[in-house]
Amino acid sequence: MNYISIQDIESLKKWVKQAIKIKKKPLKNKKLGKNKTLGMLFFNSSLRTRLSTQKAALNLGMNVMVMNFTSEGWTLEFEDGAIMNSGASEHIKEAAAVISQYCDIIAIRAFAGLVDKEKDNAEIVLNGFLKHATVPIVNMESATGHPLQSLADAITMAEHKTKHKPKVVLSWAPHPKALPQAVANSFVEMMQLQDAEFVIAHPEGYELNPEITKNSTIEYDQNKAFENADFIYTKNWSNYKEYGKITNSDSNWTVTADKMKLTNNAKFMHCLPVRRNVIVSDEVLDSENSIVIEQANNRTYAAQLVLQKILKFCATTSNGKFPSTGKKK
Ligand code: CP
Repeated sequence: MNYISIQDIESLKKWVKQAIKIKKKPLKNKKLGKNKTLGMLFFNSSLRTRLSTQKAALNLGMNVMVMNFTSEGWTLEFEDGAIMNSGASEHIKEAAAVISQYCDIIAIRAFAGLVDKEKDNAEIVLNGFLKHATVPIVNMESATGHPLQSLADAITMAEHKTKHKPKVVLSWAPHPKALPQAVANSFVEMMQLQDAEFVIAHPEGYELNPEITKNSTIEYDQNKAFENADFIYTKNWSNYKEYGKITNSDSNWTVTADKMKLTNNAKFMHCLPVRRNVIVSDEVLDSENSIVIEQANNRTYAAQLVLQKILKFCATTSNGKFPSTGKKK
């Protein structure tokens, strides 16, 4: 059992309910992870994912080992048959097999490089571990998805929604650095499992991968999208067509108090970290309607639910060992 994408959730409604239950009694399963080790491998920076996933593992009684691969690990080679006479010192085959001996679950963060679309879509780091590790893998944000974030987003919306079918707007906003599409992709996939009126708002040309957005409603007029919205989820992503480029930095897309007035007293969401007065004004971020801190808090319960499910699944295997994973996509 792995947690790689939103598609690994068999019932979002059920999972959200279970996560809210965990939130009420986070130490209830303190013995479940006894003598089990979570290995957290970071190829990119993190605050929330690192601390919330670690806290989730500790709540389950697990041991945790963290490694920042870019500064502490050997540079890895991912290509089969590579002649390793340049930068990379270790092949994923050995690295994944060795780490699997020390850890019962491996969690990985490896962002998109935003240079080569094909390479990013191939998810070489995540798939390298899926192929060569012999323990379950958890995605802590890969090139194309951030499913722990969107599970936390679903929990947060369930806690704050006041009607059965809310209007939810995913709105692009400007950013000085080119950012991956991963958070937006997983949010879209998660929203496709929700009973909601869902709108993606962005400038023309900023379409996400159409294989992910499918038939989601797209609106190029942000003001129109905001009308009567119950949730505004703001996120920057770099251009997908002109891959990894910043082709628009229009500050008219910054979320302001005036724009929030168009909504149905909407809650403001962002995965964080957020650039104040670029993505969103201070006034909105500091308002009562901003639920970003609770959203970050729910990262713990999203991660705890995922780890708990993997631990329970593995406890049911006959030899008591965690099953090998195998390449997923
Ligand atoms: N939202 C999120 O993943 O935060 P970090 O990058 O700080 O982990």
